[in-house]
Amino acid sequence: MTGATGLLGHSLVPQLRDFGHEVVAHGFSNVSNADYQVDLCDLASTGKMLEEIQPDFVINLVGCTDVDLCEQNPQLAFKLNVRSVEVLAHWIGRRRDCHLIQISTDQLYDGDGSHKEDVVDIVNVYALSKYTGELAARPAGATVLRTNFFGPAAGASKSSFSDWVLDKLRKQEAITAFEDVAFSPLLMNTLGKALNRVMELPTAGVFNLGSRKGCTKADFIFAVAKHARLDTSMVTRGTQAQLNLRARRPGNMVMDSSKFEREFGFELPTTEHEINGLELTDEPG
Ligand SMILES: NC(=O)c1ccc[n+]([C@@H]2O[C@H](COP(=O)([O-])OP(=O)(O)OC[C@H]3O[C@@H](n4cnc5c(N)ncnc54)[C@H](OP(=O)(O)O)[C@@H]3O)[C@@H](O)[C@H]2O)c1
Repeated sequence: MTGATGLLGHSLVPQLRDFGHEVVAHGFSNVSNADYQVDLCDLASTGKMLEEIQPDFVINLVGCTDVDLCEQNPQLAFKLNVRSVEVLAHWIGRRRDCHLIQISTDQLYDGDGSHKEDVVDIVNVYALSKYTGELAARPAGATVLRTNFFGPAAGASKSSFSDWVLDKLRKQEAITAFEDVAFSPLLMNTLGKALNRVMELPTAGVFNLGSRKGCTKADFIFAVAKHARLDTSMVTRGTQAQLNLRARRPGNMVMDSSKFEREFGFELPTTEHEINGLELTDEPG
């Protein structure tokens, strides 16, 4: 798994091991949990790593996920979201014995949802670089999964959106809950199960992988608070449009993931089901 030392990797590595897969973890600067430390923008060292491992699958989580940083530094966005995929796809090519699973994002969508895979709407450099990364992955016969996720960070140095919400609610700090942003995230545990299914049935193509129905970020915050029985007096409904962010953000990223459900025979849960399944770690005793 490339990018295994990040937020999603911390959750997926143990899950896939529990499913019985032998997972080799790759990282770059954060090497405590990694078997390999390699710059994926470097063709020679990445090729050497893959030659040694001879993987059946490469699940690629490497990326620059900071949307404002991508806007400020498109070269970095290109390196981590496009070049790294090109390098992997170069090695994998059309090998029949290695399948690339490229993790992409729901940030490729905007406007009226729910969105199917065929029309993207690019509003910032992050989205452009992730989409270009998809284009780099597809000639290698990759499964491209457009997703969004939440759940406990499980030791990662970065927090998930639900970690951030729970932390703010517990500390009774003010939150502006956006009513003009909608998404359809999955729990990282569900994403792990879906990935295991993809590994049983590796199929080339682009697939949305999100929860059914979706909700606004505001409704997500109130639902998490209700699930965790936390007070919401510091939460104010507002809009993202009021903020002066460096990168423009999409509004409606809600995905229609029925293609994934049909292709992989995997029923996806509703957003409400996922929120109610959120594990409440670090609760004050
Ligand atoms: N976070 C979200 O909310 C979200 C939502 C939708 C989709 N996604 C997608 O999901 C994937 C995983 O996201 P994440 O939040 O887990 O990302 P993350 O926490 O930022 O992790 C990024 C990973 O990339 C590695 N990396 C950075 N520079 C590298 C380089 N030059 N060479 C090799 N590896 C390098 C990092 O390694 P070190 O840490 O060891 O340096 C880390 O393992 C990304 O593709 C992202 O676009 C994320």
